[in-house]
Order: sequence, then C-alpha cells, then structure tokens
Amino acid sequence: MTRVNNSTHGDTSGRLAPPLIGECAPIQTLRADIDLAARSTAKVLITGETGTGKEVISRLIHHGSARRAEAFVTINCAGVPDTLLETEFFGHARGSFTGAYRDSPGLLRQASGGTVFLDEVGEMSLRMQALFLRFLETGEIQSVGGGASTYSDVRVVTATNRNLLEAVAAHEFREDLYYRLNVLHLHIPPLRERSTDIVLLLEHYGRIFALQHQRPVPVFSAAAIGLLVNYDWPGNIRELRNVIERTVARVSAAVIEAAHLPPEVVAAGARADEHLAAASAFAVSDANRVAALLERLLVQRESFWTTAYAAFMGRDITRDDLRHIIATGLEQTHGSYRLLVGLFNMSADDYKRLLGFLNQHDCHVPFRPFRMARAQLSTAAERASAARLA
Ligand SMILES: Nc1ncnc2c1ncn2[C@@H]1O[C@H](COP(=O)(O)OP(=O)(O)OP(=O)(O)O)[C@@H](O)[C@H]1O
Ligand SMILES: [Mg+2]
Repeated sequence: MTRVNNSTHGDTSGRLAPPLIGECAPIQTLRADIDLAARSTAKVLITGETGTGKEVISRLIHHGSARRAEAFVTINCAGVPDTLLETEFFGHARGSFTGAYRDSPGLLRQASGGTVFLDEVGEMSLRMQALFLRFLETGEIQSVGGGASTYSDVRVVTATNRNLLEAVAAHEFREDLYYRLNVLHLHIPPLRERSTDIVLLLEHYGRIFALQHQRPVPVFSAAAIGLLVNYDWPGNIRELRNVIERTVARVSAAVIEAAHLPPEVVAAGARADEHLAAASAFAVSDANRVAALLERLLVQRESFWTTAYAAFMGRDITRDDLRHIIATGLEQTHGSYRLLVGLFNMSADDYKRLLGFLNQHDCHVPFRPFRMARAQLSTAAERASAARLA
C-alpha cells in the first residue's frame, strides 16, 4: 500500500468530519471517547481491523479539536521504503539526493499547529521508529541532507490493525514508542460484533450511492437483510460500503433481493443454512434417542443399566438428556428415588449404585420439586373434597 498525503490546510468543511454511523453501545462509547480525545492534546492510538473506520475517527478527533482550522496530514507507513518515509516525515534539503531539486519541508513541518495521522504505524521500521521517537521527545525536525533544524508542534494520532503489544514482544516495535503513542486508546470493534448497525449503514450508503448512480433509494428484502446482517464482513465497513455501491449500481429492480447480493455474501448464507440444518437434524435425532430410551424403560420394561446408563456411558446421550430421563421417572414416582429403582426395572439393591452413579456424573436431579408438586396436588385435592363435603 502506498502512502497517502491529504494535507488539508485550514479546511474546516464537512469533508473533514465524515459521518460516524452506528447506534450500538460500543459506538456510543466511542463517540464519548472521540469527544474526550478532541478536547485533549494527548496522543491517541486507534486500533481495529481493516476498514473499521480508524481514519474516520482520526478525522473526527481533529475536527472536534481546537486545531480544526489547521492542517490535518495523514501518512501511511506501510510499504514505503525507509529513505522515502524519512524524507516524507522530515523533509529534505535541495541536492541531498538525486532528484531533490528543491527544498521540501516534510509533512511534520506542514502539519505544524495541526494534527498528523500516522496510519499503519505498526509497519514502521525500527530505524524510523527511533527517528520518530526522537521527534516526539524533542519536537525537533532535522531535514534529510542537513539545513537548520526546526521545531514543530503537532498533535499525533496513530492507528494500526496489528497487535502492537505482540509486536513489542517480538522486538519489532519499540516498547518506549508504544507507551508514548498509547496515551489515549480507542478500539473499534469489527462490524460482525455490531451487526445491529448494519441496517443503519445500509440506509446511509444506500441513499448516498442511489444519488451518485442516479438510482432510486434501494429497498432491501427481508432475506437480503438477513444475509447482510449474518455475513462476517472481514473487510468491515469498507467492504459493506463497496457491496452496497456495487449492488445499487448493478441492480435496477425496485427491491434488492438476496439473489442480487454478491456471491460471497450469498455463499456464506448458504453455508450458515447448512450448519443450521445439520444442527437441527442432530437435535431432532437426539430428542428421538431420548424418547426411544424412555419407551424401552417404561413400556418395554428394560433395565436402566442396559438402556439409559449404557447410552450415557457410550456418549450417545448428553448429561442433560440423562437428567431429563431421571426427571421423567421422578415425576411418576413423585420424587421418590427408591420407587424410581423399580420403575426403571432395577433390583432394589441397586438403589445405592444408582445414586452413586448419578452423583459421580453430576446427573443427580433434586427430588424436592416433585414432592412439592405432589403435596400441592394433594392439598388442593383435599381442599376440593373438604369443600364438597361442607
Ligand atoms: N461508522 C462509520 N460510518 C460510516 N462510514 C464509515 C464508518 N466507519 C468507516 N466508514 C467508512 O468505511 C471506509 C473505511 O474506513 P477507514 O478508512 O476509516 O477504515 P480504516 O480502519 O482506516 O481501514 P484500514 O485499516 O484498511 O486503513 C471509509 O469509506 C469510511 O468512510
Ligand atoms: Mg486506514
């Protein structure tokens, strides 16, 4: 990825304050943190997966700050050769290298009084990290190839989608620089963790792209919304924005149906449906298995040991299934484990063995609720017969 240089001296237009769509709790918290960061001059580190809005937030911080009328300069540190990045940061003197026909102030000088946004800061080489740390400590800018050094007062906002602490542990990122940059930390959760905002983003970008492509504002069918809300969005809001633009530009139908969505979104939905079908088939077969065991116990009068016990030990049924079988028996015996031994076709000597087994596997079901149910029943019956007699 190449560097971006959006130097926007004195630009206070709406372009600098992109909308931050979203009403979910993490976005509300983020809004409060952006306000806080805008009111302070502390360095801010913004983290989040690709396309979650790190640059949007850096712009909102600048726009909300006292420096809003000054420059906002972004530098992307990824994929830029060290020597080039150094001249971009600190400028160069005329003739300092082939092609340096005139002095260049560098972005840190240009941003003086304003904000510099360092994107993908985790990609800086160790050498650049050392140079940048020196600048942070002294505010001094030394151009490549000499010349008088100057001082720059910039507010520094950085962003990364790397885990910088892991980079520190791997000796790829300086620990002292990490702590200097990470004074205020804003983390943006991925879109898949705030899927309630997806519908708001659909409306927002639907309107924008309808206008741009001279189409009617799109209406999404329930099935299409279902697919979009359940999709994983590895590219986050950038990906969602692109999907909406492509769909609005391509589809002229009044309603955007599931089939109109890009194949990756539709395919993910189909995979989810398969998982769901497999899971519910499993649940049904599980319920059938428990019902079959109860029938063998209660109708065919087979022993607990050859039916439920064997199925549980063979992992054919779960602990909850076994508890359900025991509870069904206790309902019939009104909470008596002694009677359950007979009901489940065991010999009277098996009482202790049964309780030991259930306790050992944490399958013991409390008998009291079944007794109380009986007590309530009998008092209700007694009351009813007393009323009849009276
Ligand atoms: N909350 C939001 N509301 C509306 N649009 C948003 C929001 N967040 C991000 N976007 C849009 O999503 C796109 C990606 O945002 P941005 O460039 O800020 O992400 P990023 O985190 O910097 O990505 P990367 O890590 O790839 O650089 C932009 O078009 C931006 O306008
Ligand atoms: Mg970015």
